[in-house]
Amino acid sequence: MKIALEQGNIVQADADLIIVNLFQGVTMPGGATGAVDRALAGAISDVIAAGDFTGKSGETLVLYTRGAIPAPRVLVVGLGEAGKFDGRAARTAAAAAARKARELGVKRVATIVHGAGIGGMEPATAAAALVEGTRLGLYRYAGHRSQPPKDWKPDPEMLIVVERNAAQLAALADGVARGEAVAQGVNLARDLVNTPANRMTPTVLAERAAALAQETGLRFQALGRAECKALGMGIFMAVAEESEQEPQFIILEHNAGRDDLPTIVLAGKGVTFDSGGISLKPGEEMWKMKGDMAGAAAVIAALGVAARLQLPVHVVGLAPCAENLPGGRAQKPGDVFTGMMGKTMEVISTDAEGRMLLADALAYAARFKPAAVVDIATLTGAQAIALGPHAAAFFANDEALAAKLQAAAEASGDRLWRLPLYEEYAEAIKSQVADVKNSAGRYAGIGASAKFIEHFTEGYPWAHVDMASLALAEEDKPVQPKGATGYGVRLFVSLLEAWGR
Ligand code: BES
Ligand code: MN
Ligand code: ZN
Repeated sequence: MKIALEQGNIVQADADLIIVNLFQGVTMPGGATGAVDRALAGAISDVIAAGDFTGKSGETLVLYTRGAIPAPRVLVVGLGEAGKFDGRAARTAAAAAARKARELGVKRVATIVHGAGIGGMEPATAAAALVEGTRLGLYRYAGHRSQPPKDWKPDPEMLIVVERNAAQLAALADGVARGEAVAQGVNLARDLVNTPANRMTPTVLAERAAALAQETGLRFQALGRAECKALGMGIFMAVAEESEQEPQFIILEHNAGRDDLPTIVLAGKGVTFDSGGISLKPGEEMWKMKGDMAGAAAVIAALGVAARLQLPVHVVGLAPCAENLPGGRAQKPGDVFTGMMGKTMEVISTDAEGRMLLADALAYAARFKPAAVVDIATLTGAQAIALGPHAAAFFANDEALAAKLQAAAEASGDRLWRLPLYEEYAEAIKSQVADVKNSAGRYAGIGASAKFIEHFTEGYPWAHVDMASLALAEEDKPVQPKGATGYGVRLFVSLLEAWGR
């Protein structure tokens, strides 16, 4: 589907379907919706008066215009309560409308920009939300079926964003471009996460990162087993030991060599499949562990967006990638390994492998002398139990960085909830035989995991995002089809944008 921006009047738009909107509880539609209502002799206000359409967030109403205006169909989408309207609501409206348009089988669609009216959002923000919501809502994972499902209708061919006010067009065009880049990034992360583990090995992930680098001008490097061993990444390598798949330590850089810009390192857990290793997981839902590289996917995709938007920051993306499998050479509970920093670690559970990858990645991060390091990982089941699929947990050892992340979460809609880094958690991961152990057992599992990672950060402000519950969505929502979410991409883009400002 192509998205184009045009100046004009939505009432006169030449399209198979025009999209307007309504806030919840409004009885007399105004603005563009009011103009369409008048052209249709009050057809929209009739439906509202009858109580059959209330403007709830994501609610849709389709009316047929019977020659009153050029377009044969009008879709009114609900924006929810005016007082609660934000980017999230704008994206939901756009997604619900786009999905309804696809269901109707229309080819040419015209829409107004939701929320850009008087007293609304900045036009660029509203346009970006429109494009993001549309593209994210229409996302489908093509998968590996021999035939596409019979009930899949094709996307509309064209979405025309119509704006009356010529003075707003430039800002809207900026917003459309930003929305396109961000949506492309989120949907890339979704594709990487949805792809089954046998087709998304560390090597394939590195190839995909290399292709993205080629397209966007990022600097790319991937270190294999021999190079990681030579660097002394003994903790990362302990996880990768049993897999036939070569581990990959992916390094992407945007604005490489620009010493004048602040350096932000993003590091993502890339376990392409987590069986638990010798501390084997139960079989029932083990397939979901194909999504255990969602942190790496978010980092790789966010770097692509940073490059496409030419954000004025030096960004380094690190993605340590490996499979976690049991076998004759596999790491065992009780084993001790030495990481890149020279610190030693005792294995309590081979299923606490994500923090092991991150330990060496965060040691590696120090060489960039970063202004901040943020890691992201599907790290603990405890995070999922605590917050459900509604927010990721985060930890930070620096207040300024915590505030920036929190603001990025607000701006992007990729929700975060902060948890503490108590010293008691450090007590809980003290080992009898090594500097630290990789699990403290059942209680406060998430705090111990964060404290473990902090142990391997030195010389920079650091934050950690645990997104275990956000890799794969079980519920279908307008902006978030069931399956991989692409969580983290929008969070990081917002963070990097704010840093560059
Ligand atoms: N990848 C899992 C965490 C996870 C669980 C992600 C559910 C997504 C959904 C991680 O490697 C893991 O196994 N964590 C263990 C750690 C424990 C052994 C200390 C956990 O949380 O149970
Ligand atoms: Mn695990
Ligand atoms: Zn894992």
